[in-house]
Formats: sequence, C-alpha cells, structure tokens
Amino acid sequence: MMPLHKLSACLIALVSALLPHPAGAQEMDKLWGESVVKLRPEDASKGQLFADGNYAMFIHWGLYSLLGNKVDGKTYYGIGEWIMEKRMAGIPIPEYKELAKRFNPSRFDAQAIVQIAKDAGMKYIVITAKHHDGFAMYHSKADPFNIVDATPYGRDPMKELSAACKEAGIGFGFYYSHNQDWIFPGGGNGPQTDENGKPATFDDYFRNKCLPQVEEITSQYGPIELVWFDTPGKMPKKYVEQLIGVVRKNQPKAFVSGRAGHGLGDYQSLGDMEVPIENIDGLWETVDTTNDSWAYAWYDNNWKTPREILRRLISTVARGGTYMLNIGPYGDGSVPKHAADSLRGSGEWIKRHPAVIYGADPSPWGHALPWGDVTVRDNKLFLSVFDRPTDGKLHLPGLKTEIRSARWLTASGSEPVTHQRDGTWTCLTLPPGTLNALVPVIEVTLAAPPEVDRTFGIDPKGPTELDVHFASVTGATRNGKRWMEKFGEWKHTFEVTAWKADGAATWEVDVLRPGHYRVDLTYTGEKRLVWRVAVEGGQAIQNQQNSSSIYQSFPIGWLEFTTPGRHRVSVACIDGNTANASLKALRLTPVTDISPASDTASSR
Ligand code: GLC
Repeated sequence: MMPLHKLSACLIALVSALLPHPAGAQEMDKLWGESVVKLRPEDASKGQLFADGNYAMFIHWGLYSLLGNKVDGKTYYGIGEWIMEKRMAGIPIPEYKELAKRFNPSRFDAQAIVQIAKDAGMKYIVITAKHHDGFAMYHSKADPFNIVDATPYGRDPMKELSAACKEAGIGFGFYYSHNQDWIFPGGGNGPQTDENGKPATFDDYFRNKCLPQVEEITSQYGPIELVWFDTPGKMPKKYVEQLIGVVRKNQPKAFVSGRAGHGLGDYQSLGDMEVPIENIDGLWETVDTTNDSWAYAWYDNNWKTPREILRRLISTVARGGTYMLNIGPYGDGSVPKHAADSLRGSGEWIKRHPAVIYGADPSPWGHALPWGDVTVRDNKLFLSVFDRPTDGKLHLPGLKTEIRSARWLTASGSEPVTHQRDGTWTCLTLPPGTLNALVPVIEVTLAAPPEVDRTFGIDPKGPTELDVHFASVTGATRNGKRWMEKFGEWKHTFEVTAWKADGAATWEVDVLRPGHYRVDLTYTGEKRLVWRVAVEGGQAIQNQQNSSSIYQSFPIGWLEFTTPGRHRVSVACIDGNTANASLKALRLTPVTDISPASDTASSR
C-alpha cells in the first residue's frame, strides 16, 4: 500500500497532468533515484521536485546579513534575520533603513551558489525575497526599500539567481514574509502610522506592498517551484486566499508552503529545525540550517558535518518528508566555507546513493533504528548505517519478508553481505570496508515489498533509545514540547510529566539477547528524584539521582532480561518533585563486558 503522502504526490501529478503545461514523459510516473537526478524543473509535474526530490536549499540573505548579529560592537545571540526586532537589537526603523546605504554585496555569485546546490544534490533553491524586516532583495516597484533602489549595489541578484537555476536545471523559489513587515506602515508587527503620523492599517500594507510584491515575484523571475510564505500569525484568511490566488494564476505549477496559513498551503510545514521521530503521512517538510542561525551570525560556527547533514536528511526522508537545508551568506554575498564544504561532502555521498533519497519511500518501521535508518523503494530496503556496530553485526528487528539478497553499495560497485535469521531478527554482517564509509548503505532485496513488526527491538550490541512518544502512559501526562535554546533556535521533544503515585510510561520491546542492560533516563526536574524501572514479571530496579533544568541523562543501574522475546518495560518517577519531573527517553545499553570470572569473584 503506497504511503499516503506519496499517493497524494501521485494525485497531484495526475491532476497537474490534466493542466496545460509542457508534458514530461515521466510526469505520470513516481520518479526514483537516478531518474530524479536527471529530472529538470520544466519536465517535473507540480510539486514533483518537492515530493520526489526530497532535498532543497534554503537561503536567508538580506540587509541583516550585513550585521551578522553585531550592532554597535554588541553581539546578539539568536537567528540573525531578527536582529532588528526588539527581542534582539531593537534597531529603530530609520537606523535600520540607513543600513541599505552600505549594502554592496560585491561577492555575490549566483553561479557559485547554484553550483553548491547542484554539488549538494539539492533539487531546488528557495531564497528570501522579503523577510520580516521588509527589505526586498529584488527590484520591487511596490516599495523603494529594495536592493536595487536603496543600495549602492544597484543590481537584482534574484534575476541572476533565477537565471542560474534555470541554466543549471534546478528549481527556483522565493521565501516571502507575507504577514510581518517591520518597516512598512500597517505591516504585521510593523509601524501603525506612516511617515506623516497618519494611521496605517494592515489592509494598507497588503494592498500597497504585499499583494503587488507577490505579483512581482511570481511574474518576473521565470518558473517558480515554491512560494514559501512564513509566520502567517493572525493574517485574515481572505488575504492569504488572495495571495495564493496570485500564485496559482502566475505559477500554476508552484507549490505554496504550509506556513501560508489557514491550512491553505500545498503541504505541511513542520517547526523550525524539527526532524520528526515518527513517520508522518502526507506531503510535509522539515526546514533546517547548516549551523544554528538562518541568516549569517558572526559567532555561529556550530556547523553540521556532512555526516550530520546526511543523518538528518535521511531520517527526514525515512519519516516520509522533504528536507530543506539553509545557508546564510555573508553581507558581501559569499557563502561560508564550512557550509559549502559540508554540503559538497554530503552531496558526494548522495551522488553515489541517489536511491536512498530521491523518490524513496519511508521506513516500514515508522521510526529510526538504533544504528541508523531505512528508506525503501518497491521491494528494496536501503539501510543507512549512522552508528556502525563495532563487531560489524547489524541487527534488524521484526522483518517478516524473506530476504533475496543483501549487498553493501560501495563507491565503485557492491560487496555481498551475509545475513541470517535469528528468531524475529535478522543479523547482517557488514564487510570490513564499511568501517571507513561516511554512511554505509546496505541494499536488501526482498522477495516482496517489506512487511515488518514495528515493536522496538532492543539492540544486542549498541544503545537503544526509547522515546516517551512511543510509550503507553498511565497516571502521568505526555506532551509535545518545544523551546528555544538561543532566540529562534528551536528544539522539539516529547515528555511525560505530572507523575501520579501509580503513574508509568511503558514500552513493549523485543529482546534478542537476554542479559544485563544498563538503564539511563533522560529527564529534567528539580532536585533529587527517585526513578523505578521494571521488566513486567521480572526485575525492578530503582535509584535516586539528581536532576537538571535541561534534559540530561542519568544512570539508574543494570536491568536484566532473563529471556529473549517480548517484554514490557516501565518507568515511574516515585519520589521527589514528581509533578514536574519531565522524562524524555529511556536508554538500554547491553552490558557486554561481564566475564564469568569477574561475576563469580564478586558474587557472595
Ligand atoms: C521562523 C523565523 C524566520 C525564519 C523561518 C525559517 O519563521 O521567524 O526568521 O525565516 O523560521 O523557517
């Protein structure tokens, strides 16, 4: 049964095939692997680069990039494109507008940026046309506060970038902040009077700037892949409908982001920097960034390595989504080297393994596995190994479908991988060469499309993390939770809290190897807490540990599974401030270095 989100992509393809536009032979097919690599925007059906390409470049570049989060010598920590706002530097409008006079991004190179996206394996680019600060990065006749009329640069970089994308055969799209405009009278969270003190309404902003600018960006830059509206806030539905009407009129093949508002987008936009831990049906997107800020921030050197990019990209695709990864060019228009290098490094891997990403279907397990993640196509599993077991033994829980063959996909070909069943588990032996691979990929060819038992398998070699999202909870409360580390740097988790005396979070697990497992709990709380962890019908352990205001793992002790197979493991917070103890996950790690000698020596 095709996952819903892919079904809807096919329906979109089907419907769009009925629309008048250059017919591409494959538009009726669901494209995969190499065929997506070759897919050009003009041949793609509506949303196909999104639904099959699965990977795009986001670019946050604007007047704020000139500041890089430093104003009058003071650094403001958080997302750089908010530097003007009161929660960051709180720059007065006249002062911010003055910045334009020194904005001259002489090192902007459209071809170079497009080449980075191509080398990265990204299928389209979405760049900020106008962000919340109201400054247009293109030549707008609707508002002179733009890069051509208000700066010494005097060029339209969006003309150059859209042309470079077209020439390179990748899609081009715009981010547009349709509700917030901190400069234009009447804009969302902007001035409520004009320069003469005359009251200005949102309708004034909408009619005089927003609507004409959306008309401009969807009619003057060639074919548009995606219009990424953002932070709709309380923007009345009628305005959003008008904007989408302009997009549909000028760009019938363009997708509209889920953040347009009122559920009117073409897909669901998740929270910033959120890679979900469970499969999500339908078309959806995770947006992430190569460090911690969308726009350039001088201090932000927290770059993602190629491996970290691949881990987040693969897991997004494995959950059924599309991953759009951001770069924040400097004020001079050039791209931070570490961002470009990590994109190229991960891109080289993608070029060797297009089938893992492009047109791939989500993992039948519905969640990541202890050592990595799985994407699928027809009767092939692609096991992407992020954490290679030291002995090279990869344990796959719950696969019901017969394996025809397995091979490690190397840079130059493949090497066979031996495998054998072990109860409900399959053990694959990774070739030694996988030790040096960035992310080894094992292609497992099955006798039929995969059927699995989704019960969490407790890996016999490495740590297994059980998130509370997958537990059944009684006598306590489970919530989704998100917070900002630095301003605008979002983190997302699930928690179980408000523990009652009989409260418990319980997981159904499948144990391959009986024995002792070290228990660690990840939680926040106040002062010391007592936790109890029990195997139903078996051992129960408890321990008191300290807590912290941020999620931290604490050791609880060894827990024994005396038999292989199904078990129910429960966690309870039984003493201390149980009301605000917030459990995030239980981690089980096999204790493998117990030797009989040490055991007898210590036993009394
Ligand atoms: C949030 C921020 C915005 C950023 C966007 C990226 O909406 O407000 O600055 O462009 O996330 O997803």
